[in-house]
Amino acid sequence: MKEQKGKNADLGPKMARRRVHERNPGPDARVPSYRRLPLRFTHGEGARLYDEEGKAYLDFLSGLGVTALGHAHPGLTEALRDQAGKLLHVSNLYDEPLQARCAARLTEACGLDLVFFSNSGAEANECALKMARRYQHNRGETGRRAFLALERSFHGRTMGALSVTANEAYRAPFAPLIPDVQFVPPDDVHALEGALATEAFAALILEPIQGESGVHPLSKSYLETALNLSHGTGTLLVIDEIQTGGGRTGSFLSCQQAGVQPDIVTLAKPLAGGVPIGATVARREVGESLQPGDHGSTFGGNLLACRGALFFLEELFDRGLLVRVRKAGERFEKGLRDLAKKHKTIRDVRGQGLMLAIDLDQPSAPVNERLLQSGLLANSLAETALRFLPPFIVQDEEIDEALDLLDQSL
Ligand SMILES: Cc1ncc(COP(=O)(O)O)c(C=O)c1O
Repeated sequence: MKEQKGKNADLGPKMARRRVHERNPGPDARVPSYRRLPLRFTHGEGARLYDEEGKAYLDFLSGLGVTALGHAHPGLTEALRDQAGKLLHVSNLYDEPLQARCAARLTEACGLDLVFFSNSGAEANECALKMARRYQHNRGETGRRAFLALERSFHGRTMGALSVTANEAYRAPFAPLIPDVQFVPPDDVHALEGALATEAFAALILEPIQGESGVHPLSKSYLETALNLSHGTGTLLVIDEIQTGGGRTGSFLSCQQAGVQPDIVTLAKPLAGGVPIGATVARREVGESLQPGDHGSTFGGNLLACRGALFFLEELFDRGLLVRVRKAGERFEKGLRDLAKKHKTIRDVRGQGLMLAIDLDQPSAPVNERLLQSGLLANSLAETALRFLPPFIVQDEEIDEALDLLDQSL
């Protein structure tokens, strides 16, 4: 064999190949299902992210509503490090006291009784749909298999969650989905009344603030009516709080501000501060309908995720973070409303707490692009909306800085 020459000669052929590959990685081996920006973050601290060039960005999107404690939170980091040094995972074949403690804290926060842990929002909704059908089946209501959902809804990308998601562009290529799903216009009580009168539905599923379709809050009276109508007709009410929940709107669940107590709540995004988690939280009678063999998840209730969730819940309730969300949300919303007076292009400010959006009379993508250049991460959606999901630990000065950057970009 010829002697290898050059910089990689002493690495051995395998390492040399790897190093060449790192410098010139070739075609991207990832499924092209995301439109990724060519932006590479190396680390973060609090509400800031830093890219390869050392440029700082104010992160007002939190990884799509996930990193509520900001980046590299010292307490969360320590808790996760400690857990990783003890046990990461043992499976649901065995009892896990940490998981049970996490369940107790979470159900108390929701005012409900039982939780099934999974790993994502879509999975939490899958479980909710199965739970609703199982509950109706156990009651002998075998005709109640359909689901009622709202137009403009988003509940996830797996087949069940997609079936109750309204966006036709997401649905059509994957048909046939779950049959017997009906959509009614949001905030339309008559449409809801008409649909529920058919007594065909296992459950009604809705987001209290429709996030992905542009941050559209449902009215308090509509939520109250949805609860009364569904209970009056024997339909379960599932509230998807995957984006709104975990404190983002200033209360643990957004529906708590409307005084509405659903049968099932689904949670995910911020719940473990960035570690994947999903939770389907239910009233006892409804949760108990899933018996051994009915549902499962290898990673669900994973110890690292539960440790993260326990830490997150302690921050929220024991160390005042929920109060902080309310104050920060008020400051940010007021700032956005002031900007709306100054910039006529802003035709609406929507949302609650730290889930806010402005709606423009022009496409929002170019404004978002300017924000990115100026160092503010937000998200353009529904053509004309700009969505902000800042971390809960965001400081007043950071809110003011974001408002300044937005002012300039408009
Ligand atoms: C309201 C709502 N439900 C469900 C989901 C799906 O969550 P995941 O992407 O974790 O599956 C999302 C994600 O954005 C969401 O906003």
